Amino acid sequence: MARPDGITDLSHIRAKTPLYKDKSVPAEIRVDNLLGLMTLDEKIMQLNQYTLGRNNNANNVGEEVVNIPAEIGSLIYFDTDPALRNAMQRRAMEESRLGIPVIFGYDAIHGFRTVYPISLAQACSWNPALVRKACSVSARESRMSGVDWTFSPMIDVARDPRWGRVAEGYGEDPYLNAVYCAASVKGYQGKSLSDSTTVAACLKHYVGYGASEAGRDYVYTEISPQTLWDTYLPPYEAGVKAGAATLMSSFNDISGVPGSANRHTMTDILKNKWKHDGFIVSDWGAIEQLKNQGLAATKKEAAMRALNAGLEMDMMSHAYDRHLAELVAEGKVSEATIDDAVRRVLRVKMRLGLFDNPYTPDVPDRFLRPADLKIASELAAESMVLLKNDSTLTLPLRNVRRIAVIGPLADNGKDLLGNWLGHGQAEDVVTLRQGIVSEFGKDSEIRYAEGCALDGHDRSGFKTALETARWADVVVLCLGESLRWSGENASRSSIALPAFQEQLAEEISRLGKPVVLVLANGRPLELNRLEPLANAILEIWQPGIRGGEAMAGILSGRINPSGKLAITFPWSTGQIPVYYNRRKSGRGHQGFYQDITSEPMYPFGHGLSYTTFEYGEPTASKTEFRRNEKIKVSVPVTNTGDMEGAETVLWFISDPYCSITRPVRELKHFEKRSLKPGETAVMVFNIDPWRDLSYVDSDGKRFLETGEYNVIVNGMKIRLNLTE
Ligand code: NOJ
Repeated sequence: MARPDGITDLSHIRAKTPLYKDKSVPAEIRVDNLLGLMTLDEKIMQLNQYTLGRNNNANNVGEEVVNIPAEIGSLIYFDTDPALRNAMQRRAMEESRLGIPVIFGYDAIHGFRTVYPISLAQACSWNPALVRKACSVSARESRMSGVDWTFSPMIDVARDPRWGRVAEGYGEDPYLNAVYCAASVKGYQGKSLSDSTTVAACLKHYVGYGASEAGRDYVYTEISPQTLWDTYLPPYEAGVKAGAATLMSSFNDISGVPGSANRHTMTDILKNKWKHDGFIVSDWGAIEQLKNQGLAATKKEAAMRALNAGLEMDMMSHAYDRHLAELVAEGKVSEATIDDAVRRVLRVKMRLGLFDNPYTPDVPDRFLRPADLKIASELAAESMVLLKNDSTLTLPLRNVRRIAVIGPLADNGKDLLGNWLGHGQAEDVVTLRQGIVSEFGKDSEIRYAEGCALDGHDRSGFKTALETARWADVVVLCLGESLRWSGENASRSSIALPAFQEQLAEEISRLGKPVVLVLANGRPLELNRLEPLANAILEIWQPGIRGGEAMAGILSGRINPSGKLAITFPWSTGQIPVYYNRRKSGRGHQGFYQDITSEPMYPFGHGLSYTTFEYGEPTASKTEFRRNEKIKVSVPVTNTGDMEGAETVLWFISDPYCSITRPVRELKHFEKRSLKPGETAVMVFNIDPWRDLSYVDSDGKRFLETGEYNVIVNGMKIRLNLTE
């Protein structure tokens, strides 16, 4: 009988090698062939991930296996030298009966050795093309170091900055997370996973982890089906469409069913509705944690629930390796379920080319290449957000003779790397002080004082800091967070900086010198006390290895800042959650806080430039149109200042009345363009009604209703009418 792939005669292949080892045979047939040869025990081993050596992450230390079986499915690889990986791979290839390669994973989150800004910062660049390039560098460095698979991107929409992991994602907006998700997947996976410079991406943490109650980690999340569909799932759908090979299930309990045992999200939605054919790995120990969450009395029951819900790989719970065989024997897990899971794992390995090229070549000079550092500088510069600039006299700094660089982050490389720093080294970092010295050192005198530590009570450095500030014409005050204050297991009850840092700022500001406050942190901060103390505020986030250079370039005006916030800065911690796309209140004129403003400190999309942009009247190719008609709205934007600069135009839609309530505004499109002084560009948003005006209901069904819509750009509205 003719085969669907057109192969008619396989006898010559069979005679030489088993089918699954033959590159010329289509991947799916190789996988089927291999699956047919495997014993149940061999299959089960494919569904486990151990570590190769000890985890360097204190939050996740598990039961390490010293004698790793040659049949293991996956290993987390902490080294940068491919030799150790290759030795292990050789065992898998040569000592296991079928020679199935191991897939090696690692958390290269915002770079492997060339460390880029944290993802939250990257989101503020509004430059997904640049983010894609950074991800492809990270992929190349990873793959050449023996890592085939990165546990990135994190695309958990996050609206509570007390949650430390807000640093790891792309902010508060579902659309923005979706756009960056697609960009990073394409950056990591390139054109083909089997290239020697690409890695498999892993969308995490599926799903709703960003809804952690009160910003605490690992806890319950209350997510209505409506919110699941309109807020938390869209970035995942975009990632699946972009071809993401894998996903990681989340730690959180989603309204009564934890992410790692959730059949609705993992099977009904991901596999059945979206047709994802790769696999899901659990988060670290998440299967075992089903016990703590009260869903399973024993680890065995946890294994049964997780696998039957659609979770293919067990990261460090030792639930699948210990219990699946027994569960199959008892009929609690079917062999068909095991086969489907194994097929998915093998498929990804096949796509990565691991069967044909299992070993990593030793390539010298794979790190910190000049072109990669250039991307680090550009991305750092574009991520930084100028929050405040009193008058044009403050920034950029021109003809300043004496600059004081003060603060615990002024000469601190390590904390600029941010959490999940991969194999980043503090010595590779251009610190803020170093950046200022190379930018201004020729014409200005620069003095440095640490002032204080990031936290604590030791005021002994204040005196020198104040003297240094008194001496200077301008003070660059560098405050912020330690890299350990964000990331996993790093929740904070207040998003203000420690009082101690605020005191230093207060005392310096009393001297009456111009103060440029440079903030390096992993989350939005409460700035209501600091804001009045500074003439200018530059949010640099944790900008990675070229942070100092980019920051200094902005201070001098060599670089015109263009970042805009991808997440709201609340006025105070008590306002949380505060995000731009909330739903409307029943009484828009009442219900405000009695003790503080109800407005955030800096809203989503806020960011200043050294030039000015003027928006003309937006126009639409048609304001009345049918469901299947595409229309175009446009707005002219002119650089009316005297410096070249980039402007990002944010297009929102709103649906004033609908069968379900909808957010006040929803971002649907954005475009960033550099404009010369006097130059005008017409920025365009092509509206596809089905894509841009429709909504999903609580079952994930999409609807497009006729009637009134608004397109909003720079606060201006165009009213549209959709007819049948
Ligand atoms: C736990 C974290 O939640 C996850 O993001 C990470 O990828 C894994 N550990 C592996 O390190």
